[in-house]
Amino acid sequence: MIIEDHIPKVGESSIQEELLNCLTSEPKMLPSMYFYDNYGSELFEKITQLEEYYQPKIEMLLLRSTARKLKGEIKDCDLVELGSGDCSKISVLLDEIPEEIRQSIVYYPVDICKEAIERSACNLQEKYPEMAIHGITADFLEHLENIPGKRRRFFCFFGSTIGNLSEEKAFEFMENLGDIMSRDDRLLLGIDMVKDIDIIERAYNDSKGITAEFNKNILKVTNSHLGTDFDPEEFEHVAFFNENNSRIEMHLEAKKDLEIDIPFFSEKIVFKKGETIHTENSHKYTAESISRLADAAGLTMKNTFTDEKEWFSLVEMVKV
Ligand code: AVJ
Repeated sequence: MIIEDHIPKVGESSIQEELLNCLTSEPKMLPSMYFYDNYGSELFEKITQLEEYYQPKIEMLLLRSTARKLKGEIKDCDLVELGSGDCSKISVLLDEIPEEIRQSIVYYPVDICKEAIERSACNLQEKYPEMAIHGITADFLEHLENIPGKRRRFFCFFGSTIGNLSEEKAFEFMENLGDIMSRDDRLLLGIDMVKDIDIIERAYNDSKGITAEFNKNILKVTNSHLGTDFDPEEFEHVAFFNENNSRIEMHLEAKKDLEIDIPFFSEKIVFKKGETIHTENSHKYTAESISRLADAAGLTMKNTFTDEKEWFSLVEMVKV
């Protein structure tokens, strides 16, 4: 097992600068990557088990059936997973293909989180000793050039992570990926689909309040970086479907006028009652909007694997 590191070290001061810029911009926002400290990752894990949060359950089922159908295309490949996280999704796929196919591939988990790669690659190696694993820590949204290109590649990008990118960024990412793909390569993309608004909104406003807790945790993470004293209880979790942009937006809304000191910068962040911090976007796609993405990337949709209700899709794309 090999792990290759391509993450540049970012200093605490550049993190502070970024957070400060985001909180003093108009409108205020915070980058969603700051949800995920240890507690935030624990909360996200709990979200995936919520009744209302349908995505992971459907994607897992689709992965199982799709793996059996695509095993011939996976054979003798470099299996590259972008945003591999805890490797739970690829495990489902690997479980469904015969050992002889696992023997024929090299699995390349690519993730920005070094600890996640180290931990999950070790676990996976124990589970599948017959399979070669080559982990890469990299920001694949910025740097696709660190990905190997010697033989046929089967790219995976699961979890509807593409939904967190703005429309512009999603197109840019797909174009970059299309550029590095060759004729025999494949892409399997997991995407959450547009559906009844109530169902989408319930998935981000769960009855146990876990998503609210997850959203508010970004303020604790911000406090730890900026030395601020945000009280999460002074903010309300707000999540709604923005139809114009076909996305769930998560915000934190100030319950009253607030002034937050930033000791490191001797500045204040000022909130009017009802003002929000925009913390996340989660875009939902249709068959048409997915095919626009594919077109822009010079790819074509070879197969769409979806559930009965068409709530989630695994889309297989190839170079035109
Ligand atoms: C893991 C980023 C796909 O957008 O649905 C879950 C994150 N945010 N509940 C999503 C999330 C609130 C999730 N992604």
